[in-house]
Amino acid sequence: MDIGVDYYPEHWDRTDWEPHAKLMAEAGFRLVRLGEFAWSKMEPKEGRWEFGWLDEAIEVLRAQNIRVILGTPTATPPPWLAARHPDILNVGKDGRALEPGGRRHYCYTSPVYREYSRKIVTAMAGHYAEHPAVVGWQTDNEIGGPKCFCDACAKAFQDWLKTRYVTLEALNRAWGTIFWSQEWSDWSQIPLPRHSMHGPSILLDHQRFHSGQVLAYHQVQVDILRKSCPKQFVTHNCMGFYNEVDYWALAKSLDRVALDFYPGNLWGEGKFNCAGHDYTRSLKHQPWMVMEQRSGLTGWLEMFQAGDLPGQLRLWTYQTVAHGADAVVYFRWRTSRFGAEQYWHGVLDHHGVPGRRYRELSRVGAEFAALGDRFTGASYVAPVGIVLDPESRWALEIQKGHPKFDCLAHANLYHRAFTAHHAGVEYWHPADDFGGAKILVVPTAFLCDEALAKKLTAYAEAGGTVVLTFRSGVKDAANVVVNERLPGVLRSLAGCLVEEYDAPVGREPFVLALAAPLPKKPATATIWCDALTLTGAKALARYADGPFTGMPAATLHRVGKGQVVYVGFQGDAAFYGLLAKWLLADQGLASPFAPSDTVEITERVKGKERFLFVLNHAATESKLKMPAGKPWRDLLTGQKTGRTLTLTPYDVRILTPTVPA
Ligand code: GAL
Repeated sequence: MDIGVDYYPEHWDRTDWEPHAKLMAEAGFRLVRLGEFAWSKMEPKEGRWEFGWLDEAIEVLRAQNIRVILGTPTATPPPWLAARHPDILNVGKDGRALEPGGRRHYCYTSPVYREYSRKIVTAMAGHYAEHPAVVGWQTDNEIGGPKCFCDACAKAFQDWLKTRYVTLEALNRAWGTIFWSQEWSDWSQIPLPRHSMHGPSILLDHQRFHSGQVLAYHQVQVDILRKSCPKQFVTHNCMGFYNEVDYWALAKSLDRVALDFYPGNLWGEGKFNCAGHDYTRSLKHQPWMVMEQRSGLTGWLEMFQAGDLPGQLRLWTYQTVAHGADAVVYFRWRTSRFGAEQYWHGVLDHHGVPGRRYRELSRVGAEFAALGDRFTGASYVAPVGIVLDPESRWALEIQKGHPKFDCLAHANLYHRAFTAHHAGVEYWHPADDFGGAKILVVPTAFLCDEALAKKLTAYAEAGGTVVLTFRSGVKDAANVVVNERLPGVLRSLAGCLVEEYDAPVGREPFVLALAAPLPKKPATATIWCDALTLTGAKALARYADGPFTGMPAATLHRVGKGQVVYVGFQGDAAFYGLLAKWLLADQGLASPFAPSDTVEITERVKGKERFLFVLNHAATESKLKMPAGKPWRDLLTGQKTGRTLTLTPYDVRILTPTVPA
């Protein structure tokens, strides 16, 4: 296990480098990411490579036993390149090119930009492939948007459509362009969709195209690094659930997935913030790393969020380890005095004198050094699966059905409920095998096909529990509504039909009457309401008011050795809590610890070793009742736990059984 920092030696005087490296080493930082925005310093003029300064910076770090991850600097094309080839610039919907001066202002399709990227990555790879201090590569930086609307992209989109549909007749049929008389008679007529009057089909294909262009651009870099640097790993710093790029596909090209983690009041903090960690790990179902974790007050020209409270930086570090990360790199070492990120604080403030944050992270450094490789390779225990299909997300983001419907937030209501009960969650792509998940939630399988329906049926028949929800089986791959009763291909598995549905915009939530095995407790439905007809399933919940009073709202269907729950509405937190509690108990997975919204408990295993991570996200003391019988030892303090564990604000415990299994 390692901690480290993102470091920009090019922002500091040469005389600062040694003292910086020494302070890093003293804090226990053993890993540094370098170079990911330094194109203009590595290639100040076209074809003039200057790696001497970077060699020197790496040597200074190496002298302190610090290893290096090099970033390819392609998120920031230098001004000379944009001036010479303005066609590399990203063009907005309004037809205007983004001006240089910031970052991410390039076009992924531009053959010229791909060529310049190829050249710099080749030069870097050639120079550093055998460097003993360089352990890995980060490609570009947070790759993704903005979408580009330049002429090259317009032509590439038409070519992409030609490959996908082969004939215009097939495309017109698939998209239903007879609607509003938009049957294309030549490929060159098809535009990049710029306004909201387009149908969902072209919009989904445009999103697929955009993601594909980003991936193709990215692959150029991966291919070079794989060929030239076989001893070094390749990673990319992803942004949690960001979905402009199909991260599942991106992850396939990487050795490991990295996350940029910026908890706080803007992007969420606390226990349930771990959903992004679970997603990051799930992209490869392997240990992962954090490439950027906030280490102070944040803000650009805008986007300010409150500073971390004492203890939170340490807590957030362990939260990632608790979810399977094996390295955490903090953003950034010393706060920049210039540029857009002057408020984005690092471990050190602008003045460079170590303070509270440095001391807090030094504590983590010392603890990590003592823990050694204890958790390296340990797997994360996750009996619950959530299937998250990037394409269904795209389609549901294009057309929500209800202005407040957010398919990701809906999926994560399930994550939250299971996590509150301390059950580990793994995300799965529909094409995956779902590992050993005992409970598999498949939220809004909007673009569900026969293959997924068959797989889910086999999974249930073999004894699995499947949870299906509203807006499933609704569309085909072209984002056109299916010509059958809902939930489409999933109806025999669900054992129910959608008789009628409503998106009750502006209405009060409907009251639900829950039925056994759910307890008769209050719960409500909102956002979307399917009124169901039973075709083999029994009702788990009925509407108790509103237009569908008396009709089934959720069902339970026994299938082979397993069962299928269909939830035809978006419920309140109480509903998901009751559902998760019942399902976990039903599967023998109930946690011995009381559910909590602030105390997080996760489990990792390595061979016969078990580790329980106990994290207190509350700003106050929390008491945890330990299960009877088994004594545990805290790896951080060496102490044995009693019947009650008293957790101080933002406390971290790593417990292991004193009696091995
Ligand atoms: C990340 C990005 C970093 C830095 C940081 C703070 O998203 O990768 O380069 O900009 O945000 O703004």
